[in-house]
Amino acid sequence: MEQPHVIVLFGATGDLARRKLLPGLLRLFEAGLLEDARIVGTSLEDVDTEHFVAFAREACEEFGKGDVTDERWAPFGSTLSYVSQSAGPSALAAAVKEAEDSLDVDAAEISRLHYLSVPPKAALDVLRQLDEAGLVERSRIIMEKPFGTDLASAQKLNHRVHEVFDESQVFRIDHFLGKEAAQNILAFRFANGLFEPIWNRNFIDHVQIDVPETLGLEGREKFYESTGAYRDMVVTHLMQVLAFMAMEPPTSLAPGPISDEKLKVFRSMRPIEPHNVVRGQYAGYRGKPDVSDESDTDTFVALKVEIDNWRWAGVPFFLRTGKKLAEGARVISIAFKEPPLAMFPAGSNAGMQGPDHLTFDLADQSRMSLSFYGKRPGPGMKLEKLSMQFATHDTASSSGVLEAYERLIHDAMRGDHTLFTTAAGIETLWDLSRPLLADPPPVRSYAPGSWGPNAIHQLIAPHAWRLPF
Ligand code: BG6
Repeated sequence: MEQPHVIVLFGATGDLARRKLLPGLLRLFEAGLLEDARIVGTSLEDVDTEHFVAFAREACEEFGKGDVTDERWAPFGSTLSYVSQSAGPSALAAAVKEAEDSLDVDAAEISRLHYLSVPPKAALDVLRQLDEAGLVERSRIIMEKPFGTDLASAQKLNHRVHEVFDESQVFRIDHFLGKEAAQNILAFRFANGLFEPIWNRNFIDHVQIDVPETLGLEGREKFYESTGAYRDMVVTHLMQVLAFMAMEPPTSLAPGPISDEKLKVFRSMRPIEPHNVVRGQYAGYRGKPDVSDESDTDTFVALKVEIDNWRWAGVPFFLRTGKKLAEGARVISIAFKEPPLAMFPAGSNAGMQGPDHLTFDLADQSRMSLSFYGKRPGPGMKLEKLSMQFATHDTASSSGVLEAYERLIHDAMRGDHTLFTTAAGIETLWDLSRPLLADPPPVRSYAPGSWGPNAIHQLIAPHAWRLPF
């Protein structure tokens, strides 16, 4: 039996709410995980409940699964209400009270979940409003990434959060950690005896974490002008996934031990120096509304990360992500070292450069593959690259499997911090980013549909970027 909840969604008419949160809440509702719940939407827009309900339905039709018929929509739609943030804290408090009263249970039994789907700067305002509205008790808050835009702003935000909420009430979300495939990294590493012994500098040559996207900013230019790809994707998603790849085995899978081990990875990382980073911006970005003609915002970033600990010293991690690239993928690729002696005849593996790889695909239909050399059938000794592929669940369609946001909202409702990030981890990452943020290399233009600026090849040389699937 799920606990009764009032969910207050800040940024309720924004892009994330439309694409992910509202369709996700509908799915949780239909899965019976939001049984006794009311959802209060709020944002800076002055609209009424009727307008918001229509907006939410359109969002679920466009980005959710299956047809949203009247019969299907009615039970969920009736849980929604809206109050404009500009109406002030007392109006917000009244809207939450009304939602609670309609639940028909003792108010003391109702938990509140405030989802702050707002940019870092606006989060301070929301915290003040929640405080003034008296919406701190019986409450948890989910805070969206990026958490701050640099070390000072993250510290200020954490400080302010702790003036209002206890850390046990705070859930800093990074939806990549809610992806089935990201958690599968932990299962793969720590539930098997086969791979962990070779998971280190003696056997691994380098690692790539590659998240190219075909989508452009498409209306999110204003948000990007104050963030950019490094803050939006690298210091958040890519680093969190890197920590799962690189961490030592935790003493248990409880939230504390996992966060401790991730933090040790961040603390072992070298500061991110500008010469290890290539920043890019797709041609045409500067012409968009909300973008200055001289904008230096990165819509692409590639970098080399080095971890100075016993497991990883000398093993570079190459990270790449960007908008409007040639293909969309979310791939982690581990390149193993070449054997110590080349005993096969010269030319036997002609045209098949590169070492053997283990690859994780973090897409919704997640996959793993292992590629290695074998003998090509026929006369003589010629080699060929072979591959073993493992498809895990089709998370997008298997019923009962929650998508990342759905899982994490449900975890926060239950008070489970395991897949959330911590203040210390985030501040360490901002601290490491200081050299880059103080002196970022200028953005290089790249053509939409390409793989980003050419300089990325020098960054990774003598290796090469690879997308194996
Ligand atoms: C979001 C970023 O957090 O993640 C977006 O703000 C990005 O810019 C998105 O497109 C990618 O998420 P996913 O789940 O589609 O890989």
